[in-house]
Amino acid sequence: MSRATGHGQQAQAWSDFWQHGSLTTFFQGSFQTGYDGPVADFWNAVFDELDDDRAILDLATGNGAIPYLAAARAEALGRNWQIVGVDYAIIHPSSDPRVRAMLSGVMLHSGVSMEQTGMPADSFDLITSHFGFEYADPQAAGREARRLLKPGGRLVLVMHHPESAVVRQARRDYRQTRRCLFEEQLDRKVIDLLDIVGDARSSQARARFRHHRQAERLRHEINRSMQRLIDSARGEDDSQTYRVAQSFLRVFADLVDRPKREKVEFVRQSRDSLEAYSRRMQSMARATMDQAAHAEFIENMKVLGLELEDERELKYGADDLIGRAVLFRG
Ligand SMILES: C[S@@+](CC[C@H](N)C(=O)[O-])C[C@H]1O[C@@H](n2cnc3c(N)ncnc32)[C@H](O)[C@@H]1O
Repeated sequence: MSRATGHGQQAQAWSDFWQHGSLTTFFQGSFQTGYDGPVADFWNAVFDELDDDRAILDLATGNGAIPYLAAARAEALGRNWQIVGVDYAIIHPSSDPRVRAMLSGVMLHSGVSMEQTGMPADSFDLITSHFGFEYADPQAAGREARRLLKPGGRLVLVMHHPESAVVRQARRDYRQTRRCLFEEQLDRKVIDLLDIVGDARSSQARARFRHHRQAERLRHEINRSMQRLIDSARGEDDSQTYRVAQSFLRVFADLVDRPKREKVEFVRQSRDSLEAYSRRMQSMARATMDQAAHAEFIENMKVLGLELEDERELKYGADDLIGRAVLFRG
């Protein structure tokens, strides 16, 4: 695992995530291979206002989904833009040749906090951030963006909305992952059981533990934990957490013939990735501003000298809320 500097565990959780090379934070459905539909349309309309020889900075860029859109638009319009992306995590842009080719002229920097980029003042015509700005200290990030913008430049943000599908999912998954790891301690129970039965790799050897008192008690506890996880997730949408919890139990199913050491390692790794997922969901839920916090944010940005040009909800389809688009002029 790579180590992100500063900002602690949250940055580390993002670094671990970006190592998978995914272009956005969305594993499934739309956006898996980059922002498309109304989101791409929104950003393309923003990019279209830039003439030739302009400079764009994307804050909290992740694996470069917004620089990717900007580079594709520059190519389509035959314009020459300097495109830079920064993130405090250690990023790892995709190895997909199509993505690599598109990002080849883009400068992406890991380990750069948006509150203090270390870049020269008045250097960008457009600063963008998609689900990024709100993760930082917005006041400090606003000051930095103001410093980096050329006079008359634009700061364009797509921010989380408390009622969007991604934020609702983040809140739910954070709750469920905490329950699985900290209340039920499912991984610990599975490892405790492996301690007793983990070396029994044939059905004959396993039969000897059928009436082992402690093994029996742990099996019971694991079943009860799984049942409570199912019950608590009932009525909620498809549960990613339950799927992961169930995958711990593979050490008693398709992985049962592996050596105990491997099974224990499998559970530890599954736990680590579930915990990192949980931290990302927590940071997403925490980053989301409610109506009052959002209004205060806008006021603070105005005080910094950024003029609010436009604000609107961004939707995918008729009522699939993606987030808030906020456009400032420096
Ligand atoms: C939800 S992701 C969005 C990434 C990207 N903009 C996208 O749309 O795919 C949030 C990103 O914000 C980054 N981040 C959070 N706080 C930051 C900070 N203070 N400075 C720089 N990056 C930060 C995280 O590392 C993560 O990559």
